[in-house]
Order: sequence, then C-alpha cells, then structure tokens
Amino acid sequence: CGIVGYVGKDNAKNVVVDGLKRLEYRGYDSAGLALIVNGEIKVFKKVGKIREFEIELNRLNVYSNVGIGHTRWATHGKPTFDNAHPHLSCDGKIALVHNGIIENYAQLKEEFFKKGHKFKSQTDTEVVVHLIEEELRSSRDFFEAFLRAVNRLKGSFALCAITTHEPDRLFCARKDSPLVVGLGEDESFVASDVPAFLSYTNRAVFLDDGEVAVVGRDGAVFYDFSGTEVKKEEVRIPWSLAQAEKGGYKHFMIKEIYEQPRAVSDTISGNMAWFKGDVPLEGIDPTSFERIQIVACGTSFHAGLIAKFFFENFSQILTEVDYASEYRYRNPVVNGKTLVIAITQSGETADTLAAMRLARKKGAKLLAVCNVIGSTATREADTVIYTYAGPEISVASTKAFTTQLTALYMLSLWLGRENGVLKEEEVNARFSQLMEVPSKIEYFLGREKKEGNVKNIALEFYRSKDALYLGRHVNYPIALEGALKLKEISYIHAEGYPSGEMKHGPIALIDESVPVIFIATKGSVYEKVVSNMEEVKARKGKIIALLNPSSPEVERISDFKIEVPEVDEFLSPIVNVVPLQLFAYYIADFLGYDVDQPRNLAKSVTVE
Ligand code: G6P
Repeated sequence: CGIVGYVGKDNAKNVVVDGLKRLEYRGYDSAGLALIVNGEIKVFKKVGKIREFEIELNRLNVYSNVGIGHTRWATHGKPTFDNAHPHLSCDGKIALVHNGIIENYAQLKEEFFKKGHKFKSQTDTEVVVHLIEEELRSSRDFFEAFLRAVNRLKGSFALCAITTHEPDRLFCARKDSPLVVGLGEDESFVASDVPAFLSYTNRAVFLDDGEVAVVGRDGAVFYDFSGTEVKKEEVRIPWSLAQAEKGGYKHFMIKEIYEQPRAVSDTISGNMAWFKGDVPLEGIDPTSFERIQIVACGTSFHAGLIAKFFFENFSQILTEVDYASEYRYRNPVVNGKTLVIAITQSGETADTLAAMRLARKKGAKLLAVCNVIGSTATREADTVIYTYAGPEISVASTKAFTTQLTALYMLSLWLGRENGVLKEEEVNARFSQLMEVPSKIEYFLGREKKEGNVKNIALEFYRSKDALYLGRHVNYPIALEGALKLKEISYIHAEGYPSGEMKHGPIALIDESVPVIFIATKGSVYEKVVSNMEEVKARKGKIIALLNPSSPEVERISDFKIEVPEVDEFLSPIVNVVPLQLFAYYIADFLGYDVDQPRNLAKSVTVE
C-alpha cells in the first residue's frame, strides 16, 4: 500500500493525489483522501484505480493545506468503499491511513465495541483510529494519545494521522513498514516511498522502526516510542523526477527494459571503487566466510539462483539460495562464518527483512544488494552494495534484475580475487567481458526496435493458454524468470524448468499448441540443450529459440528464432533475459492488460 501526507502552502488535495499516483505501483485496488476543511475532516474514497479517483476529485471544489491519502492493496477485508482508507474516529475528529497488519486488532475491536464504538469496515486499520480516540480521553494532548496508542499495537505498521485538535500537523509512526518524511520550503511530506514527493523536494528523513514523527510545514520532530526526542539525519535523494516518469514510452515496463544498458553500466561504475580495492567493502572480511546464504523473493530470488553459480565458480564458497519466506521458518544453519546476502530491489520486502533479522540473530554477517538508498534493508545490513537502476516503477521487475546480476557478478570476482581463488588476470579478463554487456544489450534492443522480431513472435502466441520455458545451468533461472514475467503481466500459465528435467514431467504437456521457449545460447551445455530441443520437436512442440549467431544446430530445429549477441556463458543471463522481458511485455500489451499494474500484485510486498 502507499501512504502520502502533506502539510504546507499548496492545496493538499492535488499534492496528495499526485503522490498517490506515483505510489500506485505499491497497490491499487482502492484509494482515499482526508482533508481538514474549515475545521472539519472530509474523507473521499473510491474503489479502483487512482486515475478514476482523480477525475472525481477534480470536480470537487475543496481546498486545504493539510491532507493524507492512501492507495490500498487489500490484506484484511475486500477492496470495498468502506474498507478503503482513510478511516475516521467516531467523532470524526481523527483520520488515519495505515500500511501493514495489526495483529491484535480483534482484541482491540472487541474492547471498543463493548464501549459503544461503531465500526464501518472489516479492516484492522479502523481499530487504530478508535484506539487513539479512546486514549485521547485520558491524555493531555493528541501527541500523548497517539504515542500511547502506538505502544498498544502489535504487528507491523506505518501510520499517518491528521486531527482537528491540531490541524496543522501530521502524526506518523513506523514499525516494520517503511515511512519517510520529505522536507521542502514551507511544506513537508510523509510517504511510504520517495517518488511520492520527489517533484517537490529531494531532502528526506527515513523513520526507523520504533519511531514517531510530528510533521509541520516548518519541519519535523522525531521521537522514539517512549516519547524521547531523537536526532535524525537528512538524506539527499540522487534520483531525478524525469527518471520516475514515462518519458514518451507507453508503459514504465518498456521504458525500464530499454534503460537496461544505462542501468547496467551505471551499476558497474557505481561499484568500481570497492571492486578495484580503492575503498574497503566495509564490514566484509572476504577470507572469513565458509558459506553464503542468499535470501530474496520473486525476481530477486532468481538473481540469487544465478549468483550461486558465480560464487561457487569464482569464489569457491558454498552457496545456498532460499526464498526469504521459507528461510525465515526453516531454522537454517548459520554461524559467524556465514555471509547472508539479501537481494532486494525495494529494500522493504517484509519476508526478506525477516530473513535478514533471523540471520543477524544467529550471528551471520549481512550484506544487502539493494536499489533504494535509505530503505530498511540498507539500514539493517552490515554492508550494502547498491544497484544503480534508478527508480523501478513497473511492478514486473526488469532493470533491477539485470543490475542485481551485475553487482553480484562483481562481488563474486572480488571475493575470488581476495581469497586467492582467482588470479588478477582472470578477474581482469572477466571484468572486461562484463564491461561489454551494456553495449551488447543496446545492440539487441536497437535491432529489436527496428525489426520487431520479438514483437512479431509475441503476436503469433498471445492467445496461448500455456507456455514452457526451458534452460540449463546459469540459464535455468532465466527460464524461471521468463515464465514469471509472462505469468505476472499476461496471466498466461507458464512454467520454467531445467531442460534436462523435462523428460521427468513437463514433456507430458507438450503438443502443437504449447510454445516452448528454449534458452539455447552457446556455453558448456549447448549440445545438451540441443538434444532436449530434439525431444520437444519429436512431440510436435512449437519451439522458440534464443540463440547466438552461427548456431546451425538450433536454427535447424527451431520454429521461431530470437538472436542475441554472444557473451561469456556466466554473463549470458544478463543478456538473455531481455528478449524474454520483451516477449512477456508485448503479449500482455496485445491482450490489452494494464502492464505496469497487473491484477493482485504489488511492487513492494511490505506485509508477510
Ligand atoms: C514483488 C514484486 C516483484 C519483486 C518481489 C521482490 O513480488 O512484484 O517484482 O521481484 O516483490 O521485491 P524486492 O523489492 O525485495 O526485490
């Protein structure tokens, strides 16, 4: 979900809705806004996308300098009008928006129900506003009531409240759900993520868990949950607004696919200093690790599966890869010689953060590979390696993935060099190959733009019901990622499989109606993949092959060909994933779906 709050000199209605539109990638099944107008709180809500909400609001003639808004991704209660935030207290004097899950909401609800409170929604959030209202009866002021309420809550929350008792303040609290304050000229902002206010200011203060902020147009004061003031550091966000806008592309996803040469290249240069040894990779003693454990979710998990090949081949460190949601409940073997790497674009995925905290408790060193400066993962890890993808808005991740692979590849070479597995020459040779990757992707994208080959193949298959993606070795996770992209945005059932395993199950699915996408670029398993293709051909499957130039064996068997430039096998995932992203994109677009905001999905899953 996305939270936006504003207090300042402009019309809060416009600023908050503008912010919500920029956060819509976080959830979009309903939206709402609360303003203080002439000493009264007015609430507006709508089920559906923000665009429709905005049209409705444009017709309203309301003006206020204070407001809070919310875009929702349903957890407790369906996406209905009543369940949409903000929620109001019984007396209508407090309005509140919330991200996260309140675990003790049922007990609290019962308690207030007995006291005569009436509830309008099935959400866990509404109980919080009633709780503040109750606490206010016996508190000196609103701040004290807010603080007392926050201390009674269990679970995860980012809260932002406004009240007619103090009409020029926003009251915020954070526990396990992100919240950031933006500081402008005579105006301040509160949001779940910086793009919400990036067009107004790039000065930000990130709340930590267990902190409260009281925000006015002249700035913000921060406290811990006991009410003691805490000093916080201001961060300058290096992203520009242009990066967070579509810039002539039809969707963010296609824009972000096309940004990959730049993103990969920025990630290489952004990490050059530690890679070359000019600065230390703080907190990491490369010779001290016996084991690496990678934790991540979704697309970031697929980057982790490929990174296992990097770490085992170039650094010779035993590497395990886990879904963060599994790791946190499996009692993993961890000690002081374990390096846990959390891969996360947003730095806010709840399961990944929980996995990090478990690893920390068990004594591991924590490294985060992350795209968002100041996010929770970057603040909790011992060391951070940033990807320089720039803001990724499309729910389906693209440039975050290729930049994660880039950063992880560099890390594996660095570890290999530092612990004596790789000679300096090999590191240099491999690094030079990495440096060529951006131009290879650029070449492929340029050709696609002119010839529309992937687009034409997508046109051929967009009515398919199922698709099978097959690859081996470092490209097996690319098969998984290709299938995930297609599922996420086109709602076509797709499976990724190691092509050698096909004969143990998926082969039964193959007939002339199922497209089978083979990642058949050159490398140690090329011939093996070719034999797997023969098996599919023999069962009349339709083969789409990803291949390098001069691959006659693959050309002969495949029905459709996507030629990608040749790179070293270990780097091939970074190039090979690009056509698969495009294939999914065009299919979803031909089907007329909302590519950037697929149904039921959210960009940052900040709840378990
Ligand atoms: C969600 C997004 C995915 C993303 C995953 C992990 O499911 O829709 O695109 O890969 O979360 O997100 P993270 O920010 O931790 O990389």
